[in-house]
Amino acid sequence: MVVAHHRSDSLTAHTARRAAARLEAAGYRIDLLDLHAEGFDPRMNVEDQPDWGDREKAYSDETHAHMRRILDAEVVVAVFPVYWQSVPAVLKGWIDRVWNYGFAYGRSKPRLAGKRMLWLALAGATADDPVAESMQSVLEANLSDGIAYYCGFSRSTVGLLLDAEERPQRIDAEGNLLVGAPVAGAEREAQYGDFDRRARKFVEEFLAEEPVAV
Ligand SMILES: Cc1cc2nc3c(=O)[nH]c(=O)nc-3n(C[C@H](O)[C@H](O)[C@H](O)COP(=O)(O)O)c2cc1C
Repeated sequence: MVVAHHRSDSLTAHTARRAAARLEAAGYRIDLLDLHAEGFDPRMNVEDQPDWGDREKAYSDETHAHMRRILDAEVVVAVFPVYWQSVPAVLKGWIDRVWNYGFAYGRSKPRLAGKRMLWLALAGATADDPVAESMQSVLEANLSDGIAYYCGFSRSTVGLLLDAEERPQRIDAEGNLLVGAPVAGAEREAQYGDFDRRARKFVEEFLAEEPVAV
């Protein structure tokens, strides 16, 4: 499980903890990779830059350690806040540096073949925001088609968790961001209860999928 958030008291971290507990209850052993807590540097560097003429290039020790963790995993679950209809920079940099040429792609038999991926994406947009539908498509095109399937994953699911903010936001006709009053009390409990249920449903559905024979 890869978590990309700078605060351990965030809704993202809370969602990751609950998802990990559900996976553990289903018999999975969790390798928790908290990118911020582990101090992962998302910046590409010379050692980890792919050499298109050498798919056996020895990347940095740090990158190799991450590659081993991915190889050991049957499923990869990424939990992150949606930033600009994409993943946060720290998660993008982890993919850039670690899901590298010769390892994740560039071989007739990709080393990640057969693994399954769940992207739990927390988004501030409200469920009735017209952007929600296109955000789902953008994330699927980017994360599932552009990354996971490209790297040989047999399944990739984007679980988009809208309404991740306690203050509803929308853009008015002039382009101003209108931030509503924070919900409180019973209403807030209900909002978070609903949020947790939606997150759990994504994990349950993911668990219910049949493993794919490779
Ligand atoms: C830099 C940045 C970009 C964001 N971009 C989007 C976006 O494109 N769509 C969206 O719905 N929310 C966007 N948000 C809102 C976050 O998704 C939201 O704050 C987060 O999911 C809340 O979870 P957290 O409390 O765990 O951070 C953005 C927030 C930040 C800080």
